[in-house]
Amino acid sequence: MKKVYLVGFMGCGKSAIGKRLSFATRLPFYDMDSEIEKRVGMPIPEIFEKYGEAYFREQETEFLRSFRDEYCIIATGGGVPMKRENRELMRRSGLVFYLNAPFRDIWRRISTDRNRPIVQRSTRNELETLYNERIPHYLRVAHFKVETENRKLRQVTDYLAFQVKRFKGNS
Ligand code: S3P
Repeated sequence: MKKVYLVGFMGCGKSAIGKRLSFATRLPFYDMDSEIEKRVGMPIPEIFEKYGEAYFREQETEFLRSFRDEYCIIATGGGVPMKRENRELMRRSGLVFYLNAPFRDIWRRISTDRNRPIVQRSTRNELETLYNERIPHYLRVAHFKVETENRKLRQVTDYLAFQVKRFKGNS
């Protein structure tokens, strides 16, 4: 295993946990959305607006195909595991953790976020439907499902760090 991928719905804590995990494991942290923004040269909402969602989805796959070959932690965008190629690329190159949070917690965190085009264009019900539709894909790609409800970031991070060290030791 080389890369540690954090997958899950928007607002499940991938970035917050990824940064802490990076500190705990001393592996560099990358946020896929930020890397795509850097590559394309504009913020995600603008990419969606100017080039469309399909283009953004291609950028996600391109990132997985070409991102540097090093031990690192990657917080993926919430839609990444929907594509089979993406799932295969992640499973082949690393260890995948699905961070699960109940929809009501997610909604509380993301409902007012203007930087997430999917949230901007959807109602609460539509987002909940999407959340439910995506769960099987997250489960399919993940080596581990991690419940975050009622757990402190620190507890979740400690668990992930333990697993990462175990796998790193074996590879
Ligand atoms: C998306 C999630 C976002 C970002 C884009 C689309 C999605 O990432 O990639 O807005 O389809 O769920 P986060 O999960 O980091 O918010």
